[in-house]
Amino acid sequence: MSRIPLPTASTSRNALKALLKRKTVLAALEVFHAELGDVFQIPLPGFNPIMLAGSEANRFVLVEQRDTLRWRLEQDPIVRLLRHGVLVEDGDSHDNLRRQMNPALHRTKLQDYVRHMCDCTNFVLAQWDSSSPLNISLEIRRMALLVLTKTLFGVDFEPEMNRLWQPILRTLRYISPGLWVIWPNIPRPGYQKAFRQLDEYFHRLIAYRRANSTGREDLLSLLIASGMSDDLIRDQLLTMIIAGHDTSTALLSWTLYLLSRHLDIQVEAQAEVDRVLGSNPPHYSSLSELHYLDQIINETLRLYPPIHAGLRIAATDIEFGEYFIPKGTRVMYSIYLSHRDARYWPEPNVFRPERFASATRPPYVFLPFGGGPRNCIGMAFAQVEAKVVLARILQKFDLHFTGKPVRPYMGATLEPRPAVWLNIKERV
Ligand code: HEM
Repeated sequence: MSRIPLPTASTSRNALKALLKRKTVLAALEVFHAELGDVFQIPLPGFNPIMLAGSEANRFVLVEQRDTLRWRLEQDPIVRLLRHGVLVEDGDSHDNLRRQMNPALHRTKLQDYVRHMCDCTNFVLAQWDSSSPLNISLEIRRMALLVLTKTLFGVDFEPEMNRLWQPILRTLRYISPGLWVIWPNIPRPGYQKAFRQLDEYFHRLIAYRRANSTGREDLLSLLIASGMSDDLIRDQLLTMIIAGHDTSTALLSWTLYLLSRHLDIQVEAQAEVDRVLGSNPPHYSSLSELHYLDQIINETLRLYPPIHAGLRIAATDIEFGEYFIPKGTRVMYSIYLSHRDARYWPEPNVFRPERFASATRPPYVFLPFGGGPRNCIGMAFAQVEAKVVLARILQKFDLHFTGKPVRPYMGATLEPRPAVWLNIKERV
């Protein structure tokens, strides 16, 4: 087969202009995608990943080459942090962990979780004060932490919130893109204390549950019953708290931001929530009637996918069409670029939830939760959580934009920075 050289991104004037205007690397990637197509290489010293986007390329990464495009690279901060967490394992080890954890995140469990999701949301909402602007990103992070720990670990995190808040944020900073991408061995002091505090918390939690485990069916009890060591359980709990709360925080912060900027859509969403729920708390069965809320959540995930790309490493030489990808190359599938592609999404930068009213698009072009055998294990959980929290907020409050601008920031997730601030008004 003839091989053609990979298109390579260079600092084109257009990319630079987009970068400066929109102040995010994503804008430059959009220019490269438009100029070079669905496959291109980014020549960063020591990293130079191949970027893939679009239906065919995403399927190639997530399904066809699932075994050759692997996740784990020992030097990556996320691997150093999560050690043997399901997110960073490959092959049989990954599949075994996933099988053991699946029952705690299965749709049938979600029916029980809805009540906890609702209680945690109510707890935070009860403290909202409408007399001054509210840092919504912070409030949503509190909710997401309470929900995740209550449902999957079976604990009330509120007494730990203040003590572990900074360690959690620090840990997120540790795995966010930075200079380590180019210099993997660059010294990174200042994180050990945060890691120690989280480890102590998890080991205390595990020890307590081993001693008091009767009748529980949450993830923590499931892992203990499976015979895993404390260290391996710690890896899974840390994985879940990191992968499972920061993503939901980003999604819900963006959604509330967009609703505050599109009041007509907010009013229509409130009308649906009022019609389906009245003032009652959502139940699992009523959630499936909130169709417009589904569309709003999907459209937010399309525009601002909390995980904007997935990173892999080629375990052997591989070929994608006429392109050759040598062993050891880092390969990224871009969720963000696939979601902003005008071939699939007319006027891709416009927030238009109705586009999800009919599902006519090729596979693997809408993939906020990844795809294939290692798609997001928490997908159903996150979808239900987002709906419960949103429904509860829309039942109780009108949301108004404060004028404080935000931009997408590539941290551990694609989050609105510096933070979403909203004026809220209690609905009468
Ligand atoms: C809006 C919320 C969420 C989004 C957008 C999201 C997105 C994703 C994506 C794109 C992947 C695949 C990454 C890749 O291919 O490299 C993934 C994997 C994963 N997610 Fe999520 N996620 C969300 C919520 C959650 C929640 C709530 C949990 C836990 C309760 C969770 C746990 C995980 C885990 C453990 C994996 C690794 C799965 C595996 O490798 O088998 N996520 N997520």
